[in-house]
Amino acid sequence: MSPSTTPPTALPVWLPGVGTLCYGGDYNPEQWPEEVWAHDAKLMREAGVNLVSVGIFSWGLLEPREGEFDFGWLDRVLDLLHDAGIRVDLGTPTASPPAWFFHAHPDARVVTRDGTTLGFGSRGMASPSSPDYRRASVAITRALARRYGSHPAVVLWHVHNEYGTPVSECYSEHSAHAFREWLQRRYRTLDALNSAWGTAFWGQHYGEWEHVSPPSAAPSVVNPTQRLDFARFTSDALLACFVAERDVIHAEAPGIPVTTNFMAGSCQSVDLWAWAQEVDLVSNDHYLTASDERNHVGLALSADLTRSIAGGRPWLLMEHSTSAVNWQPRNLAKTPGELARNSLAHLGRGADGILFFQWRASRSGAEKFHSAMLPHAGTGSRVWSEVCDLGRDLAALAEVRGTTVHADVAILWDWQSFWAQDLEWRPSVDLDHRERIDAFYDRLWQDKLTVDFAHPEHDLSRYRLVVAPASYLLTGRAAENLTRYVEAGGTLLVSYFSGAVDEDDAVPEGGYLAPLRSALGVGVEEFLPLREGARVHLAAAQAVRRAFDGVSADVWCEDLTLAGATPVALYADGPAAGKPAVTRHEHGAGTGWYVSTRLDVDALATLLAPVYEDAGLSPTTDLPPDLEIVTRRGATHRYVVAINHTGRPVEVPVPGTDLLTGEWSTSSFTVAAGAVRVVRSA
Ligand code: GLA
Repeated sequence: MSPSTTPPTALPVWLPGVGTLCYGGDYNPEQWPEEVWAHDAKLMREAGVNLVSVGIFSWGLLEPREGEFDFGWLDRVLDLLHDAGIRVDLGTPTASPPAWFFHAHPDARVVTRDGTTLGFGSRGMASPSSPDYRRASVAITRALARRYGSHPAVVLWHVHNEYGTPVSECYSEHSAHAFREWLQRRYRTLDALNSAWGTAFWGQHYGEWEHVSPPSAAPSVVNPTQRLDFARFTSDALLACFVAERDVIHAEAPGIPVTTNFMAGSCQSVDLWAWAQEVDLVSNDHYLTASDERNHVGLALSADLTRSIAGGRPWLLMEHSTSAVNWQPRNLAKTPGELARNSLAHLGRGADGILFFQWRASRSGAEKFHSAMLPHAGTGSRVWSEVCDLGRDLAALAEVRGTTVHADVAILWDWQSFWAQDLEWRPSVDLDHRERIDAFYDRLWQDKLTVDFAHPEHDLSRYRLVVAPASYLLTGRAAENLTRYVEAGGTLLVSYFSGAVDEDDAVPEGGYLAPLRSALGVGVEEFLPLREGARVHLAAAQAVRRAFDGVSADVWCEDLTLAGATPVALYADGPAAGKPAVTRHEHGAGTGWYVSTRLDVDALATLLAPVYEDAGLSPTTDLPPDLEIVTRRGATHRYVVAINHTGRPVEVPVPGTDLLTGEWSTSSFTVAAGAVRVVRSA
């Protein structure tokens, strides 16, 4: 991990001088004639916009030739926005270096794993390890920070754009050199590297550092630990680029927070637990997956993950869409009311600002079919009117800013484990860490239990229940942490193919799951993956667990060895017939549960019912599953956000005042189909 070089500054928790929720989007005025700008500012005010992100892709215009700057147009834009009372989140344009840069430094281009060098004409294509890229990106950032460090409109700095996309790994000579340096810092000696990578296997032993290279395409599967380390290196190399720009901004523009827009939950190539430590304010981009009919659940997951990496502090939704995007196979327009449901779901889960990509739809370029706040159809459109409605809603919700979200349940999330699990030659192609997380999350979401995400080495003591749906790679520290959590009274639920390897992707001594044996009272003798489409059935192992009778599962079974745990459900058929499928183990003051097969979201209800009981949790079962409820808590009030994703009205038993309509009730509110209530309650 690149060490932070900036001492902690006394930065405000929120944007300086901004006492309200933020509303706005990416603003790219350079795509429009100057006479449009004043009209934009007027319309922004009409829509309630108070924050826009400017200059994210403007490097080619701001520095037309190396070292020659043209800030005139940006001066005029910032002054105009300031005069209109609109705050600015100022971008550093380093996600898209200009043509002159690649012409002068062709070696700074990204090289893919198969050796292809990526060309100009798109965006996001410089190697993070190129010294020329680092120098040039810091130079444009310094020039911007000097010029606008004390501009009264600028309340936030937005470094780069979505680090890790569209490309993350780079296999250029610069990257190879930087990777070797990174490995030397991590391992110090070649012996240590050879041991961690297990190079005795397939004759991969290294005798010289110079012979170690990135895991480029090779005749067969490349050493998995080498690939895992390259993924770690890649996240660190990108983070070092961010830190270099951030430090320049801190020096030139003290007191203004610096962020970069994450893609929590969709971009897997950066370890956001580490990154979140380096930003002053967490911001996130989220786009719905159009092919998923219940994509509001994925939205909630992304928002909960963002809040978790932000350590529970307020965060900013930097980008989402007003309607369709343009980069999925089928780009569905949002239905009436969906824009508000999406935005207020993010707010309910901790966002204190709601921004879109982008303010005005582009007429040219790759994103002309992407929706915007001001669509091609103009101010007579449905989207524009919903954008203005949302502006009014956010103004009515101002008092929610700064309140927090409380969760009793944590789901473990570790990017490094995912990188390792996603490599080739795993026991079954049907093992999918994300599918397991989504399934457990969906179950908890339907049961209306708010979830935090946590790293397996984090302090978990505040949670009643910790779920590990996919902890394939488990460090010794993490296993000890989980064991201590159970000993101290926690309820831990671990799903299959967890604790399979250590941090070097090596099977732990004692076999699969051995590091959790005392917490779970069970070991895994052998993995028993199933054929595609095959199903197995469970049977209750105890009279009180009859609900398990007949529950079916697929993808995976395991041959479990009991080491103190009690079987709760057995396999009725399949390769482990008669053996335990689900176990429960009392350890210290707590309980460790283990499930060795894939239960779908409905079947997970059977598993989670007794787990909730152990954890002392009460799921909400008397409201429809797709009625979303989440609560923000302040010093004097709580704010219950109820979002009706169903096609029927639902009565929600919460007394208080609906801040969106001003209505009040001493007992409950009807939430119309597709509508949202935000109820201030005692
Ligand atoms: C990403 C980028 C934006 C834009 C949107 C389109 O989130 O950050 O610049 O391309 O996607 O959905």
